[in-house]
Amino acid sequence: MKAIAEIRKQTYSKKWSRYGTKDILPFWIADMDFKSPSFLGEHLITRVQADYFGYTDIPKEINEGISRWYKDHYNCKVDETDILFSTSVLHSYRVILETLITTEGKILLFTPIYPPLMTIAKTSGIEVIEIPLLKRDGNYQIDIERTRQRVMDDPKIEAIVLCNPHNPVGRVWNEQELEEIKQLVRLKKLYLISDEIHGDLIFKGHTFHSVLRNCRPKEKVIVLSSPAKTFNVAGIKASYAITRNIEIKERMEAAFKLKGLNDLDLFAIELLKTLYGNPNQALAWIDELIKILEENYRYLEHFIAGIDRIELIKSEGSYLAWLRIIDSPCRDSNEIRKVLKNQFGVDVHEGTIFKENDGNYIRINFGCPLAILEVGMTRIVRALEEKKI
Ligand SMILES: Cc1ncc(COP(=O)(O)O)c(C=O)c1O
Repeated sequence: MKAIAEIRKQTYSKKWSRYGTKDILPFWIADMDFKSPSFLGEHLITRVQADYFGYTDIPKEINEGISRWYKDHYNCKVDETDILFSTSVLHSYRVILETLITTEGKILLFTPIYPPLMTIAKTSGIEVIEIPLLKRDGNYQIDIERTRQRVMDDPKIEAIVLCNPHNPVGRVWNEQELEEIKQLVRLKKLYLISDEIHGDLIFKGHTFHSVLRNCRPKEKVIVLSSPAKTFNVAGIKASYAITRNIEIKERMEAAFKLKGLNDLDLFAIELLKTLYGNPNQALAWIDELIKILEENYRYLEHFIAGIDRIELIKSEGSYLAWLRIIDSPCRDSNEIRKVLKNQFGVDVHEGTIFKENDGNYIRINFGCPLAILEVGMTRIVRALEEKKI
């Protein structure tokens, strides 16, 4: 545990460096405490040894690799020319909204949700319609009736934004849910923008369906993704957007160029080439990772089952757990975060920023060695037992 903290602090990890010498365990940002695949590191070392770091083209092999990935893993047809590169999912998201949504246009999304999907729209001057997810059977569902009504009633809604799997509640949207959204989008000719960055990390018994599946080239569907979450490589800025709609792609491409988003640095290029160019090694690595994440999640289920005043929302993938704190003496989850961090040495994300709708929530990142998770959970339980949260 000490070794991870030390190495990560020395390498300016955003997750770990902010605490200095204080004994605080970070469970907030979506960055795992696992090393990235060794075949990636080995390739990057070889590339560094070339000692040439000049302007670099993006080779076509990367488009081929991503197209193959979507075909083999998600059963989706993605042509090599459907892919646009970008420095980050969120950079793409902002530029896409600013390019495609008209001055009066609004977007609709489902809360609680990964905060930048709301804040980026708002700071770009776009009104956000929030439809609360419905809590059912220990997790959440899309309120399709309410969504339909809002979309039918408000002609200014121009896009539905999905997060799939959904951060923070851990749902992997099923075929029926996606079909209902797609029907609505087709009917009203809306954009469907789907952030699928967590799509490779799916627990046994669940299947990830990209909105690109059976997507017709005329549909206004855009997928945003990157290897950042899957391979724990968020420090190397490499992501991509995919659309099968040529007109939209041309507009996005022009905007990406104008803003310099497509100007990947050579490490980003080598990273994409290596990960998508070696699917067998990449998949073997993902399989191992999922086993570890499932084991950590089972630990959480088991541990929390015996504790009062805390509920674990059922997750279907990735490494973010959404927890409800029941009957808390704190004013809100923002205060819960402060108490946990300052008095108990565990730093979580507060539910307020995700627009929690039905109680006080925290989001914890369980993508770490079990020993770290155990210490963190013990600290949270102590706070509960002392009735500090
Ligand atoms: C759902 C989701 N989208 C996007 C991002 C950020 O992606 P990027 O770093 O490529 O902007 C994250 C990071 O946690 C995320 O969870």
